[in-house]
Amino acid sequence: MRADSKPLRIGIAGLGTVAGGVVALLRNNADALARRAGRPLSLVRVASRSPKPEVDLNGAAFTTDLNALHEPDIDVVVELIGGEDRAAELMRRALQGRQAVVTANKAVLARHGGELLGLAQTQGVALGFEAAVAGGIPVIGALTRGLAANRVQMVAGIINGTSNYILTAMSQHGASFQAALSQAQAQGFAEADPTYDVEGTDAAHKLAILAALAFDMDFRFAAVYTEGISGITKEDLGYAEELGYRLKHLAIARQGEGGVEARVHPTLVPESSLLAGVSGVMNAVWIDGEGIGPTLYYGAGAGAMPTASAVVADLIAIARGDALACCTGAKQQAVLPIERVVSAFYLRIPSRDAPGVFAEVAAVLGRHGISIEGAIQRQGAVRSGDGGESWVPIIILTAPVAEGAMAAALQQVQEMPEVVGDITRIRVERGLT
Ligand code: HSE
Repeated sequence: MRADSKPLRIGIAGLGTVAGGVVALLRNNADALARRAGRPLSLVRVASRSPKPEVDLNGAAFTTDLNALHEPDIDVVVELIGGEDRAAELMRRALQGRQAVVTANKAVLARHGGELLGLAQTQGVALGFEAAVAGGIPVIGALTRGLAANRVQMVAGIINGTSNYILTAMSQHGASFQAALSQAQAQGFAEADPTYDVEGTDAAHKLAILAALAFDMDFRFAAVYTEGISGITKEDLGYAEELGYRLKHLAIARQGEGGVEARVHPTLVPESSLLAGVSGVMNAVWIDGEGIGPTLYYGAGAGAMPTASAVVADLIAIARGDALACCTGAKQQAVLPIERVVSAFYLRIPSRDAPGVFAEVAAVLGRHGISIEGAIQRQGAVRSGDGGESWVPIIILTAPVAEGAMAAALQQVQEMPEVVGDITRIRVERGLT
């Protein structure tokens, strides 16, 4: 470090869990950070709704006025207030005033990433968002630096820790969906509105960011097909295991014919695949590039210190002057409608326990060109239905088929008088190895 190196002067908006982690890293690791950054990282001011005397700000000023972050004594504004409109406005104002910005706000980036990166570029300042996707895993850095030489073919990630925690607790510990969600909330992983986790919105935000970087396209959150895990039952988890699969909530972006697939949904993956072994709150992102082949990134995707680690990494890059000067929106890429996506399917069809039902289901699928690759229909699975009738779940694994054809076939199967309840269908991805 040069003796005359000026400190990078930092202002933080928000004093929640992640901000507490950032403050702690800046305070406790100051010497090492200064060495790596080439100059000190100096926390000047923290702005938040209410003070937290228990957090040691290491001499930085505290204010309840967010405007105080846009003063000339601050070089970089770290946005950790969360939410959308106010956070987006804070970032815009900072960039317009030629302050660099670091944020963990996936919701804002997924919707306004193109505008904000464009503004940063025009103003000649950095916008760092490593913390917005998969917490401590440096996947933004992987896409924008380490893998920048490659044409990316596919990104597939477990990028919502809460969903992964719930699925793991249900399958490995027999927990109910609600009990598992409550545990995730108690541990501080879940979003303020947990429907963002369990209905897939949080993963869709993150996928919109990954797809923009991987495919040089705009941030297209609204076009991401999104299904969450709220309809998943322990029964499906059990049948998936019997068939040699694990059920994961995946976010997938893939270069397809004439556009990019961008979809978030429960997915069966072979039990031998690396993603199948990602348990609990952990995240993992699989990236397949034309030159490099498949690569995998694994680690904590939420929590104070993993997310703070990513925020401080962006601050170091800004201090060094080698922060991301971006790179999205160069290509006009259509996002393919889900009907055009091709995948194999797991089907659970609640049916009357009568002769010929399985054959009739198979015939309908066959008429739509859908081939059956595996099935389970066990005597022991007979249950008592609403009308006192017995019924069995027919479990089918199909060969890959376009979603549109599967939807048409399932509409007919669903209308069969022998089918006594809603059909469950879960996509299967076998290529993630
Ligand atoms: N609610 C998010 C998750 C937090 O569960 O992964 C990290 O973005």
